[in-house]
Amino acid sequence: MKNLFAIPLAVTAVTLLVLAMMFGVGWDRPPVAAEQIGFRGVGMETVSNPRVTAQLEALNQMPPPPYELTAEEIRDSPLAGEVYENVQVLGDLPEVQFTRLMAAITEWVAPEEGCGYCHNLENLADDSVYTKIVSRRMIQMTWNINENWGNHVQETGVNCYTCHRGKNVPEYIWFENAGLPAAQGAMGWRNGQNIGSGGVAGTSLPYDPFSAYLVGDEPIRVQVQQALPASTGSTGGSIQSTEKTYALMLHMSESLGVNCTYCHNSRAFGNWEQSPPARTTAYHGIDMVREMNTDYLVPLRDTYPENRLGPTGDAPKAYCSTCHQGVNKPLLGAPMLEQWPSLAASP
Ligand code: HEC
Ligand code: HEC
Ligand code: HEC
Ligand code: HEC
Repeated sequence: MKNLFAIPLAVTAVTLLVLAMMFGVGWDRPPVAAEQIGFRGVGMETVSNPRVTAQLEALNQMPPPPYELTAEEIRDSPLAGEVYENVQVLGDLPEVQFTRLMAAITEWVAPEEGCGYCHNLENLADDSVYTKIVSRRMIQMTWNINENWGNHVQETGVNCYTCHRGKNVPEYIWFENAGLPAAQGAMGWRNGQNIGSGGVAGTSLPYDPFSAYLVGDEPIRVQVQQALPASTGSTGGSIQSTEKTYALMLHMSESLGVNCTYCHNSRAFGNWEQSPPARTTAYHGIDMVREMNTDYLVPLRDTYPENRLGPTGDAPKAYCSTCHQGVNKPLLGAPMLEQWPSLAASP
């Protein structure tokens, strides 16, 4: 007879618990929200957790400019190229803006070390410190991103702080074979898998999809375009390249703090018509990162000291998390150029 009541009692208890969780009884935390971003019934939603959002907001604050300049001060200033000896890229900037930019760069990249991180303090025109040479190229890379990749960074743009956040070396960079055990060992060829690397969201997928897709331009698309194998048309990617595509996708999702449905309708990953616009932005992002790595970061290899290079001697490189750092828009979409028109485009 006892069992007769046990079941309804258990059902009631579970129902009450579920209701309590739904309405947050006993918890003073705000609920997790899901926002529908696709057609009804296809499960395309983004999930936001207010507790995580609050942490991200604290982490993503752009520091204010060191000081303000008036329009007259800028108008009356000579150009940096007229005042200083060795300004190869910022010469056309009014000197007052140049000096303010130096102060900001110091705060963004070397707040603890100060001007001496890039300068021989006996002679600021001297080019003997490698960080100064790197910075010159960094300025040009920043211009290129802001000037030519508006289809990705829009008007928001980037400045040094987007990646550096007060650190000499940005927190998220990557190397080939990031100090991980050899991909080819006693266990045979393992296609770079089963290592659990941070860059691919800690999964066992190939840990370096980046060399192929974010330096090289190997095709990322792997799906077959028609139902049955045919003598014409695409045959799809191999299992190996498919795994590498998924590894890249996990990196992209984790870098932006989103799930796959942020960019795909998961019933048809390859289909562009059913994909949200964010996928097109991401597509341009992939091209942009390829260019950043190939034209700017990889060629800096010989400028760095040994201790900045990877285990196989390659230069540090960028990927999505270098800028995004866990949010869909770096620094939650704060305008990075509003105060820094001098970084928007080469003068
Ligand atoms: C992160 C690197 C970095 C830091 C930190 C930095 N600078 Fe510079 N500085 C540069 C680069 C790069 C140039 C050369 C710009 C060019 O070629 O157009 C430069 C050039 C200069 C020049 C021109 C020197 C000449 O005669 O050619 C002055 C002056 C200067 N910086 C002042 C400062 C001051 C003052 C600070 C500290 C508040 C500072 N810089 C911090 C990278 C840096
Ligand atoms: C898109 C991301 C990105 C932006 C924007 C960016 N950097 Fe960098 N920066 C990097 C990466 C990646 C490295 C390589 C890390 C390393 O040196 O190990 C780097 C390295 C450097 C270094 C060498 C640090 C060292 O100790 O070896 C300096 C100095 C530097 N950047 C200055 C700047 C300045 C100044 C700006 C703005 C004009 C800037 N960066 C903008 C990504 C960026
Ligand atoms: C930030 C946007 C974004 C996110 C998040 C994302 N993807 Fe993608 N995905 C893309 C883009 C862009 C392409 C196309 C790349 C190309 O065409 O070069 C793509 C391509 C693919 C392809 C290949 C499609 C084909 O045509 O063969 C697959 C499969 C895929 N993604 C799966 C996933 C999975 C699984 C996830 C979640 C782990 C995911 N994606 C998350 C943007 C995204
Ligand atoms: C140089 C810095 C930088 C890098 C590297 C970068 N992004 Fe972005 N991304 C941005 C900025 C800035 C924005 C915000 C643009 C705006 O205001 O709409 C953005 C926006 C986006 C958006 C649109 C978000 C939305 O909600 O509209 C997607 C998707 C995206 N990035 C994907 C990627 C992917 C995938 C990668 C790597 C392949 C990547 N990004 C690499 C700077 C970067």
